[in-house]
Amino acid sequence: MSVRPEIVLVGGGGHCHSVLDVIEQENRFKIKGIIDNNLPVNYNVLNYKIIGGDDDIVDLAKDQVYFLITVGQIKSYSVRLKLAKLLQKHECKIASVVSPRAYVSQHAKIGRGTVVMHNAFVNANVEIGDYCIINTNAGIEHDSIIGDFCHVSTGAIVNGDCEVGDGCFFGSNSTISNGKIVKTNSIIGAGSFHK
Ligand SMILES: CC(C)(COP(=O)(O)OP(=O)(O)OC[C@H]1O[C@@H](n2cnc3c(N)ncnc32)[C@H](O)[C@@H]1OP(=O)(O)O)[C@@H](O)C(=O)NCCC(=O)NCCS
Repeated sequence: MSVRPEIVLVGGGGHCHSVLDVIEQENRFKIKGIIDNNLPVNYNVLNYKIIGGDDDIVDLAKDQVYFLITVGQIKSYSVRLKLAKLLQKHECKIASVVSPRAYVSQHAKIGRGTVVMHNAFVNANVEIGDYCIINTNAGIEHDSIIGDFCHVSTGAIVNGDCEVGDGCFFGSNSTISNGKIVKTNSIIGAGSFHK
């Protein structure tokens, strides 16, 4: 069996738990551990250890590990942006992760640092930017473009031919009608419909 590359997750909270499960199921990376400034070293997150904080990124990067930001994003993406800048500064390798239970069209593009969670779908000719979360059961329909640092929460749907700016948040079960332009930094309330 080929050796799987190692991955370090950045942020050990609830979103990290969900992503750990996706990475385990995908089985493409070996999880080295998690870094989180707010949790003590050796603290257990599911079956994995906290191995340091942000200051350890520079040394970990030398080991050629991959990184994935696993801090969640409700409303603001500022923490995820700060971490992405830090990873870029240290020229870290950035992973993208797709659940084997998700459907991603072969005609779709997924940016780096983006995660597509269980049962999500990303249909034909969709482009998803960098550092996005396409959460469990979320869906992006044909020909839509999603900017960087967007979070499409659980069960939210972006219909076809939409153009979504950077830093948008779509609450759970919200629906964007087809052909909409969603401005940069928009916050879409859970359960709402935008026609
Ligand atoms: C939109 C949201 C972010 C606003 O949260 P908030 O800033 O704390 O705002 P508040 O709850 O104080 O509500 C502010 C106003 O927006 C309205 N509002 C809040 N959520 C709404 C929703 N989902 N649909 C329609 N209107 C909503 C409120 O009624 C309130 O109106 P008012 O000013 O006339 O009283 C929040 O309601 C939401 O949808 N969170 C998403 C949760 C989620 O999907 N998590 C998934 C994680 S995977």
